[in-house]
Amino acid sequence: MHLARFQAEPAIFVAPGRVNLIGEHTDYAEGFVMPVAINFATLAAISPRSDGKIVIWAENYSEERTFDAAAQPVAGNHWSDYPMGVVSILAGEGHKIPAFSLSLWGDVPLGSGLSSSAALEVVTALAVLSLVGGSYPGPVLARLCQRVENEFVGANCGIMDQFISVNGKENHALLLDCRDLSFRLAPIPANVTLVIANTMVKHSIAGGDYKTRRAESEAACAIINGHRGGVPFLRDATLDDLAKWGHEMEPKSYLRAKHVITEDLRTVAASEALLKGDMREVGRLMAEAHISYSKDFEGSCEEADLMVDLANDLPGLIGARLTGGGFGGCTVNLVEQDQAKAFAEELGRRYAARTGIVPQIHICHASDGAHRIG
Ligand code: GLA
Repeated sequence: MHLARFQAEPAIFVAPGRVNLIGEHTDYAEGFVMPVAINFATLAAISPRSDGKIVIWAENYSEERTFDAAAQPVAGNHWSDYPMGVVSILAGEGHKIPAFSLSLWGDVPLGSGLSSSAALEVVTALAVLSLVGGSYPGPVLARLCQRVENEFVGANCGIMDQFISVNGKENHALLLDCRDLSFRLAPIPANVTLVIANTMVKHSIAGGDYKTRRAESEAACAIINGHRGGVPFLRDATLDDLAKWGHEMEPKSYLRAKHVITEDLRTVAASEALLKGDMREVGRLMAEAHISYSKDFEGSCEEADLMVDLANDLPGLIGARLTGGGFGGCTVNLVEQDQAKAFAEELGRRYAARTGIVPQIHICHASDGAHRIG
C-alpha cells in the first residue's frame, strides 16, 4: 500500500500492544508491573521525501495528514498527535527531522486498554530513527515515547505500555521495576493461553478518572512522606505506614494508596510464582488484584466486574482481572490452553446474555517487542 501511494519502497516496522497481567496504577508510583506484549500490533512503513514535507497516511482512518518537516508540531487532539509527538520529542533530542512519508496500520483494538497509542508511538519512533540513523537502548526509547504522552499529547501515564511494546518477548511476561527500569522475563507455560475479553466499554486515560485516581494516591503518599520522609513515591510506602497515618488521609486517598501498596506486593509475588511455574498462585494473586482494583482503587466498572465474575467458574480458568488503565476496556484471563476455545465462547455467550452487548474475545499469545520486519 505504501509503495502504491507514495511510489517509494519503504522500511517496515512493527510494535505490539500489551496486556498487563498484574500491577495496575503502580508504574507512575515507581513500583512494579508485569505486562505481556500481544499479537495485536501497529505497523509503520516509512520512506524519505524530497519536498520538505511529512505526509502520514493512516489506513485505519483512511486519512492523510501533511506537515512541514521544519516546523515545530503542535498537538491537535487527533490521531496524528501520536506520530507528530514522536517527531517533536526526537527533534528535542537533537535529531534533524527529514521529510518522509509514513503509512500506518494497526489491529490493536482502539480505546480498549490494550495500548494502541503506545504501539503507535513506538513504531513511529523506530521508523523515524531508521531514517535519521539513530538508535536507543530499549528502556531509553520507551522513556522517549512516554514523554510523547506526557509532554505532547497531555496524558499523564506511566512507563509500562511503552516499555513492554519496546521490550516484550515471545512467550514471556516481563516484570518491570518502574524505578530503575530493570526487568526480568518469566516464561508463560506452553499449556497456558491469554484470553482477552473486551467489555466494549470505551477506556481512555486522557479522561478525568485516571488523573483523579493518580492525584488521590499521590496525596496519600505526601502524607506518609510528611511523617517519615524518604517516601517520594508509594513504591516506598508500607502497610505499616498506612496503619499509622491512614486516618489523616481523605478516605478515598487511603483506599487508592492501599491498592497501590498491596498491588506492588502482589506483583512481585506473582512474578516469583510465575518464575516457579506456580500458576495457581499467579491466578490467586490476579483475583485478589481485581478485587483491590475494583473496590479500593475504584478503577473498574460494572461490565468489567461482571466479565471477571462470569469467568470465575469456567473450566480452565487460572486467573481473571481487569487489565490496563481502567474504567472499561478488557479483562485478561489466563486459561489452560486446551480449554481456551470453549472458555472464550462460553464467556462471550454469558456476557452477551447478561448485558445485551456482544463482546470481542481474543485468544492471544505473548509476542516480541517492536522491531523491523522489512
Ligand atoms: C495506562 C497507562 C499506564 C498505567 C496503566 C495502569 O495503561 O498508560 O502507564 O498507568 O494505565 O496500570
